[in-house]
Order: sequence, then C-alpha cells, then structure tokens
Amino acid sequence: MHLAALTLRDYRNYRVLELEFPRGVIVLTGENGAGKSNLLEAIHYLSYLRSFRTSRDREIVRFGAAYAVIDARFADEQQRDFDVRLVLKDGKRFVRYNGNDVQKFQDYIGRLHSQFFFPGDLGIVTGDPALRREVLDLELLRLRPQLTAVMSHFRRAREQRNRLLKLLHPQPGVTRESRELRQSFTAFTEQMVQSGAQLIRERLGITRVLDGLFRPLHRQLASEQGEQVSLEYISQVELDPPEQIAAAYAAALEAAAGSESTLRYTSVGPHRDDMLFRLGDGRDLKRFGSQGQMRSAALAFRLALCELSRQRMQDDPILMLDDALSEMDDGRKARLMELAGRYSQVFITSASAREVGQIAGAAGQVYRVGAGSVEKWN
Ligand SMILES: Nc1ncnc2c1ncn2[C@@H]1O[C@H](COP(=O)(O)OP(=O)(O)OP(=O)(O)O)[C@@H](O)[C@H]1O
Ligand SMILES: [Mg+2]
Repeated sequence: MHLAALTLRDYRNYRVLELEFPRGVIVLTGENGAGKSNLLEAIHYLSYLRSFRTSRDREIVRFGAAYAVIDARFADEQQRDFDVRLVLKDGKRFVRYNGNDVQKFQDYIGRLHSQFFFPGDLGIVTGDPALRREVLDLELLRLRPQLTAVMSHFRRAREQRNRLLKLLHPQPGVTRESRELRQSFTAFTEQMVQSGAQLIRERLGITRVLDGLFRPLHRQLASEQGEQVSLEYISQVELDPPEQIAAAYAAALEAAAGSESTLRYTSVGPHRDDMLFRLGDGRDLKRFGSQGQMRSAALAFRLALCELSRQRMQDDPILMLDDALSEMDDGRKARLMELAGRYSQVFITSASAREVGQIAGAAGQVYRVGAGSVEKWN
C-alpha cells in the first residue's frame, strides 16, 4: 500500500499543502519545528483515527482556523485506488472512505495499514503495561475487527463485576450476605471469564506470532551486540495449554477471592496482563537494557508489526520513521535503511543534513520541509 497524494488544509502549521508521493523511500528534512512530524502525524491519523501526540483533536487545527481537512489517495498492491477524507471540527471528526461516511471505527480500522515509529515509541518497551496491551489489542482489531465485540463484552462484564464486588463488600474485608447479589456476581464472573479467556488467547497467539517475526529482525538490526531479545505474553492466568485458559482464569479468580474482598475490584485477567521484552538470559529488557538496546527492540517490534500486516493482509503497510536515525550508530542506520527499504513506501524524517547525506543513496525522493511548505529537493 502506498500514499499517492495528500492534501492538508489548516492542519497544524500547514495552511494548504498539496503533494503527490512516489513509492519507495521518502526523506523529509528541515529544521526543528518545520512541520516534518506534523506531516507524518496526518498520515498516521488517517490510519488510526487518532494522533500519536495528542488526544485533543482541537490542537491539530491550525491556530485561528475553524477546522482541519486531510484528503488522501492511497493505492494498494493491486493498484486499486481509494480515497479518504477526514475533517476535524469542534473536537469532532468526520471520516469519508471513497465518498461514503464512516460511522464506526471498526468498519474502517483494517483498511489503511501503516506503522509508525517516533522517539516516544521507546515507551513500548519502557512504559506502562497498559501501553503494550493497547498496542496488542489495536493490532488484533486491525486483523479481526469483529474482536471489538469480545473486547467490549469483557469490559462491560468486568465493570459490572467490580460494581458487585463493591456492593458485596461495602468495606474492605467486610462481606454482606445477599443471595441475589451473589447470583449476579457469579453470572457476571462467568461472562467475564468467557470473553476474558478469549481475549487472553488472542493476545497470546498474536504475541507468539510477533515473537517469531521479531527475533530475526532484531538480530539483523542489533547484530553487533549479539544480544537476543524475545517477546513473551505474561499473565497471572496459567496460559498452558491455551485451550484451557477459561478454566484456568476461573480458577485464578477463585484463588483471588480473599484478596478481592479487600481490594474490591477484579485483580486478575487480561486487563492486568503484560508483554515482556526478555533478554536472552530471561531478564526484563526494560529493567536491565541500555538505551540503545531498548531503542533497537522498539524499532524491531514496529518492523515485526509491519511483517505481520504484510503476511496477514497481503499488502505492505506504509512505514513511517520519525527521527528514528538519531542516536543510532552508522552500522545500525544502514541496517535499518536496508530493512525499511523492503516495504513499498517508507517516510523518514531527519533534521540533520549529515544524516540525510548518509541515507540519500537509499532514498527515492528527498523533500525539504519549511514553515508550512514542502518542496522536492533532489
Ligand atoms: N495547531 C497548530 N497550528 C499551527 N501551528 C502548529 C499547530 N500545532 C503545532 N504547530 C507548529 O508546528 C511546529 C512543529 O512541527 P513539527 O513537530 O512537525 O516539527 P518537526 O519538523 O518535526 O521538528 P523536529 O525536527 O524538532 O522534530 C511548531 O512550530 C508548532 O508551533
Ligand atoms: Mg519532529
């Protein structure tokens, strides 16, 4: 898949920008604050319907303007074109796909594949478990939009169960005897176990597939360090064998009943799970890894997600690398360019002329970004 044409109106620092893009490696260069990341943010927004930077859509509209518009034309591997229009106005967003209004996120999310790496993406390794769960869930939704139902079913059942835990235990450790409450509690627990077990199984499955893709990519990227990193899904629920996760989940909740009467919330389940980046000796990368090791792992993880899209959707995702090269040694830069160059379209930003010189050989097109305009450079 590639982005063939992009028009921005009142998006961040762009008043009007109209561009066509070739396939291949595209380098965006320009000074700090020129608008390189803004451009990638717009492409990323089309794919995920949210910004990687802000949850406040109003910030995206150019200062003083009433609304922002992104128009884009994409072409997939079969050269089938489709276009997307996004309007951001008064904190709301309106999406059209080939001229039709998109009502639901799940009808749209699988259509446009892109992967994005930006400096803050290191958080995938170092950040909260919630961040890794979110990434896994988002990828699952992209591959199988119908999982939305399972995820919201789990969320609702857990909310109800938490509500009942608070009714059953008005104070920590205090239990109110009520047959009615107890029955509802059991019913919601069963519902939660069913959808929760399915979600755990899906996450475990995608983590294992990603691990298989991640390891060789990571080895290639970080070869001179010789370290090995692998991905592992972890849960308080026994994951082996995967067919018995529902029974294991029920058993884990049973075992946690005592502590839940004090905590008064659901303490076991997919909402507490995590995905670890493990070093070869089993240690947790985020606690023992160096800055460079974590950066390589985060990048390799994004590339593994690209491979997954490529395999499952028979289409290359658009890869965006925002400032990914800075802090990397020359060998690693070259290897990243080699790996990235395998995809049909890659956007790379860099504020450094030296860096652009280093990668210009691999680049199809270099664009110079400057205060609200973008021009071809080579
Ligand atoms: N809503 C907005 N309206 C107008 N300008 C905005 C808006 N939001 C951000 N900007 C401007 O966009 C610029 C930042 O652009 P961007 O982050 O794309 O820069 P960059 O080229 O990626 O820089 P760097 O090399 O530092 O990463 C800032 O100057 C900021 O003031
Ligand atoms: Mg930037």
